[in-house]
This record gives sequence, C-alpha cells and structure tokens, in this order.
Amino acid sequence: MITFALLNVCLFMEKKQESTGNEFFQWDKACETGIAKIDVQHRVIVKILNDLYDIVIGDKEEEKMKDIIHELVQYTIYHFGEEEKLFKKYGFPLEKEHKEEHQKFINKVKESVRLVEEDKGMVALELITFLKDWLTEHIMITDGKYAEYFKQKNIIVE
Ligand SMILES: [Fe+2]
Ligand SMILES: [Fe+2]
Repeated sequence: MITFALLNVCLFMEKKQESTGNEFFQWDKACETGIAKIDVQHRVIVKILNDLYDIVIGDKEEEKMKDIIHELVQYTIYHFGEEEKLFKKYGFPLEKEHKEEHQKFINKVKESVRLVEEDKGMVALELITFLKDWLTEHIMITDGKYAEYFKQKNIIVE
C-alpha cells in the first residue's frame, strides 16, 4: 500500500522556490501511466493547477481565478471522458468503479467552486490542496490500475 506521504513526493512534489522559479507542483516521471495521450492530459491538468496556484497566491484577480477554475473543471471532465472511452473500447473490468470516482470528484469540485466564487482566499487554497491530493492519489492508484491492465493485455492505445 502506498502511503499518503509517498504519494505526495511522487506526483506533485512541492518545488523549492530557490531552484525552480514560479512553478509550485512538479510532474514526476515516476507517475506516468505509459499511455502517451493520457500522460499529456495529466500534465495539462498539472499545468492548469500551477497556473491557478500562481493566481491565488499572486494578484488574486477574481476574473482570472474564475476563468482558470472553469478551465480546470472543463479540461478534467474532458480528460475523464477520454479515459472512459478507453475503458469501454478495451473492456476494462473496473470501469464502473472508476467512473464513479470521476463522478464523485466532479460533484465535489463543482460544489467547491461555488464556495470559491462566494469567498476567495483560503477557500481557493483549500480547493487547490484538495485537487492536488485527490488527483495525485487518483492518477497513481486508480489510473495506475487501467495502465497495468492495458499493459498486461498488450493493448496499445493510439
Ligand atoms: Fe486520469
Ligand atoms: Fe481516472
């Protein structure tokens, strides 16, 4: 069982400011699924999260923050849809459970976004922390299961 502490160092390792510039969360190669288009999408999610973080700790410009949260939600929904197409296409046996996780996450994020839009500051930071923690665990463990299944079945995703 992978501990939460290990999860944190694996995917979204917090960068030390003196060595890394502005980026807060860093993609770690150890967490790649090996499915090129999925890894690209996960990196996009990390990028959007980093952009959101920069705004929340930076100028806190409300419109920018709303736009980027919206972008994050839309892109994540798109990404989940892409994964779910693969589950159907290749008969992934844990399709139902995985889709339920996606749906619960979307519901939770939509609820959190409502809170952020009512009151910024800490709530936005809490949202980012929640997103980071959930996505780290989901990508490593839950997405890791279909990556492993595809590998075992020699499925090459185009
Ligand atoms: Fe994913
Ligand atoms: Fe997923």
